[in-house]
Amino acid sequence: ATDAFTYDPGFTSTAACESAITFIDGDKGTLLHRGYPIGQLAAQSNFVEVCHLLLHGELPTAEQYEKFERSITMHTMLHAQFDRFFEGFRRDAHPMAIMVGTVGALSAFYHDSLDIHDARQREISAIRLIAKMPTIAARAYKYHIGQPFVSPRNDLNYAENFLRMCFAVPAEDYVVNPVMAKAMDRIFTLHADHEQNASTSTVRLAGSSGANPFACIAAGIACLWGPSHGGANEEALTMLKEIGTPDKIPEFIEGVKAKKYKLMGFGHRVYKNYDPRATVMKESADEVLAAVGDPNDPLFQVAKELERIALNDEYFIERKLFPNVDFYSGITLSAMGFPTSMFTVLFSLARTVGWIAQWQEMIGDPTQKIGRPRQLYTGPTERDYVPIQNRG
Ligand code: SDX
Repeated sequence: ATDAFTYDPGFTSTAACESAITFIDGDKGTLLHRGYPIGQLAAQSNFVEVCHLLLHGELPTAEQYEKFERSITMHTMLHAQFDRFFEGFRRDAHPMAIMVGTVGALSAFYHDSLDIHDARQREISAIRLIAKMPTIAARAYKYHIGQPFVSPRNDLNYAENFLRMCFAVPAEDYVVNPVMAKAMDRIFTLHADHEQNASTSTVRLAGSSGANPFACIAAGIACLWGPSHGGANEEALTMLKEIGTPDKIPEFIEGVKAKKYKLMGFGHRVYKNYDPRATVMKESADEVLAAVGDPNDPLFQVAKELERIALNDEYFIERKLFPNVDFYSGITLSAMGFPTSMFTVLFSLARTVGWIAQWQEMIGDPTQKIGRPRQLYTGPTERDYVPIQNRG
């Protein structure tokens, strides 16, 4: 063993960044977007309005809203040649694999004419990404289940359009359920941005080199896929299915305490209190199950009992483990008809506005430099090369 280098304890991390977009107080369970509490936005606003807020810093006037929504509507279509990318994937490819590949491919269609140092062109790329993600995500789903693609319609709002592109089939008319559309829109709002989480930091780091925004968003999607991050909603529903009935919860909790597995959808790097998004998610689950699912859905009963038990158990209390946004989202999305493989795709669709708003904020800062996280070196001190014939 060799002594590790002594490192200069005085160096400061370059990981921190300044941002005016989202504020989280993990101890209080507070989440603000440009100063507005997430609970008020989820209850009174809508996703397109929240997109304007995140990108431009203010809630839009009626005229600004209409113009902004129209600009998104007019960019929902994809280049006709783009659809051929989907054909290259195996049918059983995970929809997140398709998202990583196809969103990265957007660089080949919309990047060459883009000057990222021009604010107007940055805004156009943001609008294109926000507008096209639902179309790409719906195509990833349709390709995965072997059904024909459904084109976007300009007479539907953002959530309605997405639901129709996912669930409409040529054989019959599809009427969007208003409860599902409202729940979908609210779920998008809850997932829109969340400060410097792993995937947003990935987008910022990739963007700091001057890479085009489409490639940066593809990098964010790749990071979000992980089960400790955006992939947790898929894992949480699988966990609830494995528990099956409330009487199995005590045995499951013992396994968590024995560190055999984690309680998916619980815990957070920042929240050491109840994730305010989980509160709204739970209300959404109630509404959707009552409208299109089973109000007595056994998985929802297991989730509520699991939450009740965990919130009163010393193991979780002393570790400040509370439900996060992923704990109830899976139940809601499943009741809406989405397979678990689509859960993180929906998360990436919603988070695109947060990623691109944070990217815009960074690129728009003239003092911005390429990111360069520091390390604490723990390897061998300097030593001389040993020719192979002299090695032991
Ligand atoms: C998201 O950053 C963001 O903002 C992310 C996100 C966003 O909007 O972008 O909010 C979205 O990613 C939400 C998190 C989704 N992930 C999960 O639900 C997966 C399960 N959660 C864990 O993997 C975990 O809670 C993390 C990764 C989310 C946070 O881990 P931390 O902050 O590093 O906590 P930790 O590992 O230091 O945990 C402290 C203790 C440890 O026990 P001890 O070693 O002290 O005995 O708590 C335990 C951990 O083992 N612990 C859990 C647990 N999470 C932490 N034990 C059981 N179940 C869990 N879920």
